[in-house]
Amino acid sequence: MKEEEIHQFIRSRRSIRDFTNQDIKDEILTKIIETACYAPSASNQQDWNFIVIKQPEAKQKLSDMVKSAWEEKLKTSDVDYVTDEFKNYVNNFYWFSRAPILIIATVKKTESFMEHWLGLEISEKVGGKNISGAFAVQNLMLASLAENIGTCCLTGPLLAEKDIKEFLNISKRNSILCFIAMGYIKSMPPLPERKNLEKIIRYYL
Ligand SMILES: Cc1cc2nc3c(=O)[nH]c(=O)nc-3n(C[C@H](O)[C@H](O)[C@H](O)COP(=O)(O)O)c2cc1C
Repeated sequence: MKEEEIHQFIRSRRSIRDFTNQDIKDEILTKIIETACYAPSASNQQDWNFIVIKQPEAKQKLSDMVKSAWEEKLKTSDVDYVTDEFKNYVNNFYWFSRAPILIIATVKKTESFMEHWLGLEISEKVGGKNISGAFAVQNLMLASLAENIGTCCLTGPLLAEKDIKEFLNISKRNSILCFIAMGYIKSMPPLPERKNLEKIIRYYL
């Protein structure tokens, strides 16, 4: 691949929410996850895990959990700034059950001695587990695209993290980083506008 093709490939990734029913073969899925694991990680700890869910009942149960967590939150919220627009926006948090495959990426929590020593916020930054996991997820999404498979990362479901962890038997030492909905692409959404570079880069030259 020439450099321009690599740039175009990276730029062509979109968040896909519309999938065909075509099955993703196990060997392709394994290869994608293997490529994800070539991501850099803090101290090469590779503290990520992936839970692969194909079972329709499990996907539906998770979606129901997320939906009711958001409904409960909206019902009990007494803040004015929860607008009707946001009430519609929460639909974006539980549609994932219609994806042929749902992957739940988890990462190890920061070591407790670090947390006691440095405090939660700093130890999470220094420990780098979330950013390492996010690099693996980005690799997973690009490796999927290389196989013509679409993905969408979701963090909206994490409002229900406690219930999800219990349902999937995820240990206390791990936290959920994100959901990744996955399947062959049925339709490609338009490119959401990107910010101008002047807005996001500050130089000291
Ligand atoms: C950390 C993160 C969380 C996201 N959470 C959700 C989500 O809960 N639901 C959803 O439908 N999309 C979610 N997305 C997808 C974004 O909406 C999407 O990346 C953004 O609109 C840009 O579009 P693009 O990915 O096609 O470039 C999330 C993306 C990221 C990186």
